Amino acid sequence: MNQDEKKRQVAEAALDEVRHLLDSKTPIGIGTGSTANRFIEVLAESKTQILGAVASSKVTEERLSNHGIELLDLNTTGTLPVYIDGADEADPQLNLIKGGGAALTREKIIAEASSQFVCIGDDSKRVDVLGTFPLPVEIIPMARSLVARALVELGGNPEYRQGIVTDNGNIILDVHDMLITNPQELEFAINQIPGVVTCGLFAKRPADILLLASQGNVLKFVRDA
Ligand code: 5RP
Repeated sequence: MNQDEKKRQVAEAALDEVRHLLDSKTPIGIGTGSTANRFIEVLAESKTQILGAVASSKVTEERLSNHGIELLDLNTTGTLPVYIDGADEADPQLNLIKGGGAALTREKIIAEASSQFVCIGDDSKRVDVLGTFPLPVEIIPMARSLVARALVELGGNPEYRQGIVTDNGNIILDVHDMLITNPQELEFAINQIPGVVTCGLFAKRPADILLLASQGNVLKFVRDA
């Protein structure tokens, strides 16, 4: 099974997982990336009734619109029953690294605003310890050097992501060489640096359910309450 087939398979499993929550009055959150894109396709093809979706990026907004799915504003929906999105890495506690697609800030806002966060991917995303994937950090442009120095102090090796402006008009530093043994502590520490909008660690608000396509099966992991 190739990567694309795995994404499709896990997207179908995600719809099965959340279908009981959905009806024509239900708003949902949908993330950004190739796996979230497969979920949008599966959702549209299934003709499952939902009120509409809050998107974590402009790219996802466009995809949703192209599939005839209503765009919703998080300021009017209130708490969302469910948010579906991919990740770059997931550890056994369902802490995540996200932001490979530069949408981490809106993703974190929607995750925080959702009762249930269902994370989807293939089995390559599962790691024992986060940090092999460089940690994305969204930054106000004038603070780039200041924040980079602070990230070095924290033990990382930040690299400016060339040519990327986020949907919020900011830039991204990708932090290499961090073995993230305490994701909550590091998330808090990075988010305290002036000029940081947010980092791509999802540990204060991890996933609730992780679905990973693997060898023809979908593995399901549920976060300990
Ligand atoms: C975007 C993200 C994505 O969820 C993450 O990069 C995974 O993407 P993909 O499903 O393409 O592997 O965090 O900011």
